[in-house]
Amino acid sequence: MKEIRKVIIPVAGWGTRSLPATKNIPKEMLPIYNKPVIQYVVEEAIRSGIKDVIFVTNRDKSVIEDHFDYNLQLEGVLERAGKLDKLKAIRDVAEMVNVMAVRQKKQLGLGHAILCAEGLVHGDPFAIMVGDDLMFGGVPGIGQLIEVYHAEKKPVVGVMEVPWDKVDKYGIIDGEEVAPGIYKVRDMVEKPKREDAPSRLAIVGRYVLTPDIFDYLKKTKPGAGGEIQLTDAMQQLARDHGMMAVRMSGMRFDAGDWAEYLSANIYFGLQDEDLRYELLSMLKNFVQFQ
Ligand code: UTP
Repeated sequence: MKEIRKVIIPVAGWGTRSLPATKNIPKEMLPIYNKPVIQYVVEEAIRSGIKDVIFVTNRDKSVIEDHFDYNLQLEGVLERAGKLDKLKAIRDVAEMVNVMAVRQKKQLGLGHAILCAEGLVHGDPFAIMVGDDLMFGGVPGIGQLIEVYHAEKKPVVGVMEVPWDKVDKYGIIDGEEVAPGIYKVRDMVEKPKREDAPSRLAIVGRYVLTPDIFDYLKKTKPGAGGEIQLTDAMQQLARDHGMMAVRMSGMRFDAGDWAEYLSANIYFGLQDEDLRYELLSMLKNFVQFQ
């Protein structure tokens, strides 16, 4: 069975929830503590054995590719100033992964974004990681799916339980639990009303798929929100060939949600021993003045 070497990371959306911050800066380049959101996602991919990253971008997002390239002028400045730790930090980012990019010329939805990358996948199975979804703790998120993909030899989606009043924001699966946290997917539905949701197991931004998904995507009509939905294409793939779901362990932050974005900043700030004490005392002050 082929290794999962490639990941498609769609980053072509408008990021409207994060405006005005994202008027000219991609949401994926907003910092969480000292790194942009997208660097955390790529580091998770690398920890899971992925070698090649395919970004699906738009005309305003080339800064994302640039982040994973050398900046020789800045390297020179840091070298001359003797700031060798910073020099290493920026060189490491340039060397961490092979980067490819393809444009999504019209923002027609997540499913359409994935279809734009078909030519770069070359018929291999591949991972998808949504570029604004951060996962932390334990086995790297996409690595959990890759493990199940190799064991079950079927496409896999990552799921997490969400409260019932949030099921209408996600793709929701109907599945049979065949081992603790591992489900055989019977069906799935994008953004169901609470009363129609088959469960509260929501598809979060991690997938391992086989290239036959592209044929399903080509036949998929616009669905929820008028967008070409990846969930609609996966629903057909699951019905025809079967699919697994993994209840992911660890924490998840959606960088497009301000409360989660700000929590992620605090979470990473607190991991830094040099910052921890000052940050905690400021947070205590804020709480007192609320
Ligand atoms: P989101 O809906 O979270 O992102 O899509 P968005 O559209 O950028 O943000 P809002 O809702 O307007 O704030 C999930 C992922 O799919 C990508 C986004 O970049 C994000 O990573 N996406 C979405 C595309 O690449 N193309 C699309 O047409 C839609």
